[in-house]
Amino acid sequence: MNILVTAGPTREFMDPVRYLSNRSSGKMGYAVARQALARGHAVRLVSGPVTLPPPTGASVSRVTSAEEMLAATQEGLAWCQVLIMVAAVADWRPASISSSKLKKEGMPSMLPLERTPDILSRLAADKGSRCFVGFAAETDDAERHARAKLAAKQLDLIVMNDVSRADAGFEADTNQVSFFSADGAFQALPLMSKDEVADRIVAWVEAFPHDGL
Ligand code: PMT
Repeated sequence: MNILVTAGPTREFMDPVRYLSNRSSGKMGYAVARQALARGHAVRLVSGPVTLPPPTGASVSRVTSAEEMLAATQEGLAWCQVLIMVAAVADWRPASISSSKLKKEGMPSMLPLERTPDILSRLAADKGSRCFVGFAAETDDAERHARAKLAAKQLDLIVMNDVSRADAGFEADTNQVSFFSADGAFQALPLMSKDEVADRIVAWVEAFPHDGL
């Protein structure tokens, strides 16, 4: 299959030196790309700014902002049968970007923000028979939020991770996730390496009914 994976954070700049972002290291998304390749799939990886080596055999597009990630993901959609959105896309960006470094003396105490595009929601209209997998990074009432995102973003599977744990979610080499699928099935996995989590996700996708494959 052709699998499009997103990974890492996005950065939303306010001036040439400052930005809004998050703690995503790219480890989870890169593990998904590696495991998909290891299981014989073709992989395109859309990556935010991370320091990881590119997975051998993947075609990699490097992006910085949510807007750029949307464009690269939209471009890859026609090619893929499966989209796995692991990226931690910043939900907000500064309402304007200054072309020169803002002086601290002149900085407002409140920063006007605007929403970034919701990539999964924007791609939902062109989903067709593709399989869409999202992640839910949660700290509280995780199951309710994950189920709401599964429905709102028209996903086939959402992978929920509790990012308040030190050994799961952002930056860690391990993760503890649960699968919620659109058909109502639920599966809680134990703590395992991100490579093992990635392998379970790709196996789930392989078992998903794909038109004409
Ligand atoms: O990179 P690591 O350090 O290994 O950390 C892994 C991870 C914690 C980043 C990863 O496991 C994870 O949870 N990724 C999703 C983080 C996230 O943005 O979750 P969310 O609940 O805010 O978003 C839900 C889904 O919508 C995600 O699939 C996200 O990619 C997508 N989204 C979010 C915002 C946005 N503007 N557009 C989107 O498409």
